[in-house]
Amino acid sequence: MKGLILSGGKGTRLRPLTFTSAKQLIPLANKPVLFRVIEAIREAGVTDIGIVIAPETGEEIKQHVGDGSRWDAKVTYILQDAPRGLAHAVKISRDYIGDERFVMFLGDNCIQGGIHKLIQQYEASDYNSQIVLTRVSDPRSYGVAVLGEDGQIVRLIEKPKDPPSDLALVGIYMFDRHIFEAVEHITPSWRNELEITDAIQWLVSHRYRVYPYIHTGWWVDTGKREDMLEANALVLEEMTPRIEGEVDAHSQVDSRVTVEPGAQIVNSVVRGPTIIGRNTRVVNSYVGPFTSIDHDCLIENAEIERSIVLEHCVIRDVPARIHDSLIGRRSQITRAPSKPQGYRLLLGDYSQTGLI
Ligand code: DAU
Repeated sequence: MKGLILSGGKGTRLRPLTFTSAKQLIPLANKPVLFRVIEAIREAGVTDIGIVIAPETGEEIKQHVGDGSRWDAKVTYILQDAPRGLAHAVKISRDYIGDERFVMFLGDNCIQGGIHKLIQQYEASDYNSQIVLTRVSDPRSYGVAVLGEDGQIVRLIEKPKDPPSDLALVGIYMFDRHIFEAVEHITPSWRNELEITDAIQWLVSHRYRVYPYIHTGWWVDTGKREDMLEANALVLEEMTPRIEGEVDAHSQVDSRVTVEPGAQIVNSVVRGPTIIGRNTRVVNSYVGPFTSIDHDCLIENAEIERSIVLEHCVIRDVPARIHDSLIGRRSQITRAPSKPQGYRLLLGDYSQTGLI
């Protein structure tokens, strides 16, 4: 069994962060989503992992992930020239996969409880493919599946306007070599992509055995800011807290807070679940629940809640509480030192601000 992680694409819904970085490297509780995907595959016993990368962000992914030895895995990179769809990513991975069965995992998805049960079930079965599904209240932005009376998948539609069921395709799929035949027979969709849902539909229509695996825990596709914040909150809630940095006597840090080595909390209130990264200083501040502050940041005379702050940021002397925010690397949010009073901004293209 091999693993295939899709970590290409453009990440347009997370601009401007994705102008300079891969969306799969945005951290949840200070660990990139992609690392969480690799861990889930590795924990299920799969050591041979291919990662599909894009020309724009591939080098950065290679630098962060390396050869996989950190996870005791062997990572091979597969370059996709442009985001031509999930089925196109499968097509170009044919030489890497060979005739083996494999698990495909979208590099921006985060799932509760890992995938070892799914892998065990698929390995013990004679299914050609098994697809992870979960019930969602609004399936319109996902692939949607319809099941037959015997539980087999009978129909799949990508992002339907009028969903025929509430079963959404989670970005985790098990395939055998027949998927390579399927991807050769489909044509690009209205969004000009080779859709994996169309390839699986081809398998169904040609009487291959395609079965669902119904996931009941939480699952988040981290494609947008609000989804990222939601996933961050869910991951933080499951963390075992540890205090490895310094907390001074004037601070209140509750029991669900992780303070990483070298971090300092000075005269501040930190409410969990929250993580304060390596060498970050929190001074005269309030850091509220569901917040991840990455390494080497400074939070001083400020309040922040339900947010993700990436490394090397400075948030200082901010009069209003920051909340529900996703703040990119090396950002500075400070008080303007001189008159005229007002907001002074240097924002990247596609930035979003919510001023009061
Ligand atoms: O998240 C689950 C959904 O993922 C499923 O319900 C849909 O059926 C499936 O099509 C997919 O939809 P998205 O529109 O959310 O896929 P997205 O474009 O966000 O790509 C998912 C991941 O795959 C992301 O990490 C980028 C990577 N990717 C994407 C494309 C289009 C590639 O590596 N190559 C590509 O060509």
